[in-house]
Amino acid sequence: MGEGKVFPRSLTQELPLAVKAEGLYIYDENGKRYLDGCSGALISSIGHSVPEVVEAVSDQLKKLAFAHPSRWRNKAAEEAAQEIAEITPGNLNWVWFVSGGSEAIESAIKLARQYYVERDGNGSQKHLILSRYNSYHGSTLGTMSVGGNMPRRRVFAPMFKEHPKVDTHYCYRCPWGQEYPSCNVMCARQVELAIKRIGPQYIAAFLAEPVVGSTVGALNPPPEYWPMVREITAKYDILLIADEVMTGFGRTGKPFAVNHWGVIPDIIAAAKSMAAGYVPTGGIFVKEEIVETIKKGSGAFIHGHTYNGNPLSGAATAATVRYMKKHALFENAAKQGELLGEGMKKLEDIPIVGQVRGLGLMRGVELVADKEKKRPFPRSENAVGIVSEECTKRGLIVYPGRGMADGVNGDSFMVAPPLVVQAEHIDEILSILEDSLKAASGRLLK
Ligand SMILES: Cc1ncc(COP(=O)(O)O)c(C=O)c1O
Repeated sequence: MGEGKVFPRSLTQELPLAVKAEGLYIYDENGKRYLDGCSGALISSIGHSVPEVVEAVSDQLKKLAFAHPSRWRNKAAEEAAQEIAEITPGNLNWVWFVSGGSEAIESAIKLARQYYVERDGNGSQKHLILSRYNSYHGSTLGTMSVGGNMPRRRVFAPMFKEHPKVDTHYCYRCPWGQEYPSCNVMCARQVELAIKRIGPQYIAAFLAEPVVGSTVGALNPPPEYWPMVREITAKYDILLIADEVMTGFGRTGKPFAVNHWGVIPDIIAAAKSMAAGYVPTGGIFVKEEIVETIKKGSGAFIHGHTYNGNPLSGAATAATVRYMKKHALFENAAKQGELLGEGMKKLEDIPIVGQVRGLGLMRGVELVADKEKKRPFPRSENAVGIVSEECTKRGLIVYPGRGMADGVNGDSFMVAPPLVVQAEHIDEILSILEDSLKAASGRLLK
């Protein structure tokens, strides 16, 4: 008989066994408690083991676990779509359900292409997705082709079609050596320049994360950026896709991060907090005009996965979003996010902390070996691994990222606790962060 083994994320790192989780805490097999300071990967936004959601999913499981989406509608998915449409901006009323973030992005970019073919005919040349370096949109071949996280894509790049990319609003290391605001938001103007160079007739969509997550560590844009890219994309007849897989459903203190700037994208892609880790779920929220165009054309999105709109995802999503609304979690994220942001700003006094940034309950720290020169640690030093290890030792889980400085080097981590976090948890997080960063500083700068 064979011996079954889980093929883990890392074959060299020994991970603890998670045995239960409640509220903001996860427990290992020895009963040690860890504050889930990054909600997994910005997923468990309403906290763990929330009875209302557990009951909604188990009730659904008993009633109807599955009915194939090509043959059946189901009430759970319809209720979830209703809950979501109440918080999406503009008329992004149509929800195409999937099982995660990569599938959401795949769906969004395929839909963008099909929209133009339906609208302009088979001769439409709009097929490119303009996106950005220092971005992450998923780990399938399609999403990696539009992603700009170099360490994660390098090995697979020969396998996919390249899509064009522009640099992002990385003000701490401005690619053009400028300073905000005298830069006149060069990063947004680069989007227009790229569109003109490539030719708007070839570009179906511009895709970006409103606050860059895993790749750069909670990189929030200058306030003009999103209104400018909205104006530019509209001017050149290019769809704007906001990847809100990390930022969506209250993470930044508003239902969607684009709400901060009053921007209405054409498509929002979401996952993670949408069903908060209770059932694998994602979705794209699509404006009426796109769906109408397809309805009047071929009549169907040429796309679909087996679990598209499954009742369990629907039940988990509807219950999660209701819970968020009932407990005013978007407002709590804004309030506690301010506290967290202010407290973390003080960490900039620690020698290895280059910058603290972010929005709401999505905060990031970029680590540096030399503060003055903003010199990153060489990757071989595993700086963020050491910080993460110091935090874990003290019972706090953070979310590490690498490669942002030059595609290889650069360390950051995110702090993004569940939206149910309270002031006392923020104190606990800040105190562990300070001790851990000081300890890591001692180890790294010796
Ligand atoms: C911004 C963003 N987009 C897409 C994805 C892919 O989501 P998934 O891992 O659920 O496929 C992620 C995952 O971290 C993400 O952060």
